[in-house]
Amino acid sequence: RPRVLSGIQPTADSFHLGNYLGALRQWVALQDDHDAFYFIPDLHAITVEHDPKQLARRTRVAAAQLLGLGLDPDRCTLFVQSHVPAHSELTWVLQCLTGFGEASRMTQFKDKAAKEGTDRATVGLFTYPDLMAADILLYDADRVPVGEDQRQHLELTRNLAQRFNSRFGRSLVVPEPYIPPGAAKIADLQDPTSKMSKSASSPGGIVELLDPPKTSAKKIRSAVTDNEREIRYDPENKPGVANLLTIFSAMTDRKITELESDYAGKGYGDLKKDLGEVVAEFAEPFAERVRGYLDDPAELDRVLAAGATRARDVAGATLQRVHERIGFLPPT
Ligand code: TYM
Repeated sequence: RPRVLSGIQPTADSFHLGNYLGALRQWVALQDDHDAFYFIPDLHAITVEHDPKQLARRTRVAAAQLLGLGLDPDRCTLFVQSHVPAHSELTWVLQCLTGFGEASRMTQFKDKAAKEGTDRATVGLFTYPDLMAADILLYDADRVPVGEDQRQHLELTRNLAQRFNSRFGRSLVVPEPYIPPGAAKIADLQDPTSKMSKSASSPGGIVELLDPPKTSAKKIRSAVTDNEREIRYDPENKPGVANLLTIFSAMTDRKITELESDYAGKGYGDLKKDLGEVVAEFAEPFAERVRGYLDDPAELDRVLAAGATRARDVAGATLQRVHERIGFLPPT
């Protein structure tokens, strides 16, 4: 079975619709016919300033949400990145294969560093893509389900794997990005030409999966659209409406053209009201399941401990192979 791997940062109290439609939905589907590894990258979460108590809590909430979305610990390996030391160890090796200029060209780093200023932006933020490459390469992942914003990091990962293989002999699998057509870039409701983002969007721009349905409905009602009346998919000229149609279509598995004809002659208010209900129908039972998992933190920790044991085996074997290839003397 092909191997699939992906991660989501524990940097907010709730995942949002962009995370869900761009990535997490695919995670759940892929566990059926893949050997699946999914993890919570807490090492990535400390590349920006953070609150320790909050990080620990958010890591558990992230695990509970992943289970609530349908990840099944019997069918996938779910773990926390810091529980598997090989991630940090392979990162060092990859840092030594990455050009300084190459790392400087990563757009996510450039954007964040521009926002933070060069003195506040950390070296960890700079080498973040190497840590991400290590995450992927340790598990010989064939496919990596992510949203569009991770494409450049995946490209770097592929380059590093190829570079390692050509320099030291074939030992790493070159992974393919698995980016869904359509929902790979869900936009901010208040600023529909930017992506919905935990760190950059205003609260009104993000639909959080754990928001009370009333809050989500209100945010959707207030979404920025345009001065026309026609409900038509035209991302260029009508990015707000196009985004609502994209979300609607992805949440209901209905074609956008079908929605366009359903809403012919109706107003933006109708579309928004119905989308609010679609989101509520999904969010209510989801929140209930998440609460259930959070009520039993000991069981949650057991799931994560079992996942870490399995992950350490696989990652440890790859790391050993890498260390041998680069000429480290084996410990006896
Ligand atoms: P993160 O935690 O920012 O986001 C998790 C996933 O959600 C996707 N995503 C979106 N998709 C569509 N529209 C949006 N508006 C949107 N916002 C976020 C992201 O593309 C991602 O798939 N660096 C990664 C975490 C990571 C990782 C990895 C992923 C660490 N190591 C190894 C894959 C493999 C990140 O920050 O994702």
